[in-house]
Amino acid sequence: MKKVLGIETSCDDTSVAIVSDNGQVLSVVSANQDLAHAPFGGVVPEIACRNHTMNLLPLVEEAFKKSNLQWTDIDGIAVTNRPGLIGSLIVGLVTAKTLAQAKNLPLIGINHLEGHIVAPLLRDEQYQPPADFQYPFIALAISGGHTTIYHVHNFGRYEILGATLDDAAGEAYDKFAKMLGLEFPGGVKVDHLAQKGDAQKYDFPRSMIKDPHFNMSFSGLKSAAHRLLQTMSADEIKTNLPDLCASFQEAVVDVLISKLDRAVKEKKLKRAIVTGGVSANSRLRQRAQEWAAANKVQLVIPPLRYCTDNAAMIAYAGLIRLRSGERDDLSLAPSPSPLATDFLDGVR
Ligand code: KG4
Ligand code: ZN
Repeated sequence: MKKVLGIETSCDDTSVAIVSDNGQVLSVVSANQDLAHAPFGGVVPEIACRNHTMNLLPLVEEAFKKSNLQWTDIDGIAVTNRPGLIGSLIVGLVTAKTLAQAKNLPLIGINHLEGHIVAPLLRDEQYQPPADFQYPFIALAISGGHTTIYHVHNFGRYEILGATLDDAAGEAYDKFAKMLGLEFPGGVKVDHLAQKGDAQKYDFPRSMIKDPHFNMSFSGLKSAAHRLLQTMSADEIKTNLPDLCASFQEAVVDVLISKLDRAVKEKKLKRAIVTGGVSANSRLRQRAQEWAAANKVQLVIPPLRYCTDNAAMIAYAGLIRLRSGERDDLSLAPSPSPLATDFLDGVR
């Protein structure tokens, strides 16, 4: 198993990649649908799958063009089949099955979250993980749909230590941004505004931060933000946007770092990764690096292009699974949630 074509359509990003042994990314091409969803303030599933339908095959062609490869170079096809928006998953899945049949290639369905967990291990001309980074490690996976801390014993052996009990961190960012009148997806806009703000100006709650477990909650933070904004005039909000964003962001980052710290210490591991769309956040990256240096933890955070949804991480997870002989057949189905067998101790 030398080269695998990966397809990712679980939410609103359409992405195709070709990855070879050792996680080497030969090409990754993506179409972002932000403009299509922005007028609605969030991802509209019907619009997402229509755009996937239009974007996917041209992206497959582009992935070949960019890598200078042909179908005869490909040894297998990996596709995200869980968890995600069902209509979006179906577009990727039907395409992957059709291509696998037409090209007579083995097919494997991948859990999107496994993709995020292996994303820091990808490599390309500009990025490679530290040569001595290895399993086991703690993974903090933070995205628009998930905020989970895993004890990653090995590839495919993921123990969930804790997760958000309500909103995902990315969802909290996006909802807060929406309250401020920022365009969807707001996470990155909050990040930019916060860079000029005072993080101590407003006191936002840090739910469960001291609780002796790994679960988190971000809905109280969202409600607190809503209540605060109701006491402010539109002008006041506008002039204090950077301070509001910085203060909100600091609360989210405080919780994430403290749970990561607890996990590393309790499991006595000195290796960790931070991954998923929210790991693109500049303040989180800075705080996580400072925390790692202070605690002598080997920390890997992927470059921005592998933090957000991309098919390279799916192709890589697929390559490892196909290489070990795993195969799916045409009965492979999409699922809105992970499978019970995806994690050592059930699904959250
Ligand atoms: O992993 P991802 O691309 O998709 C999901 O699997 O959900 O994560 C998307 C999430 C969105 O909520 C987006 O607002 C957030 O990641 N995000 C950020 C930043 N960049 C993306 N949140 C905070 N700061 C950022 N720079
Ligand atoms: Zn994701």
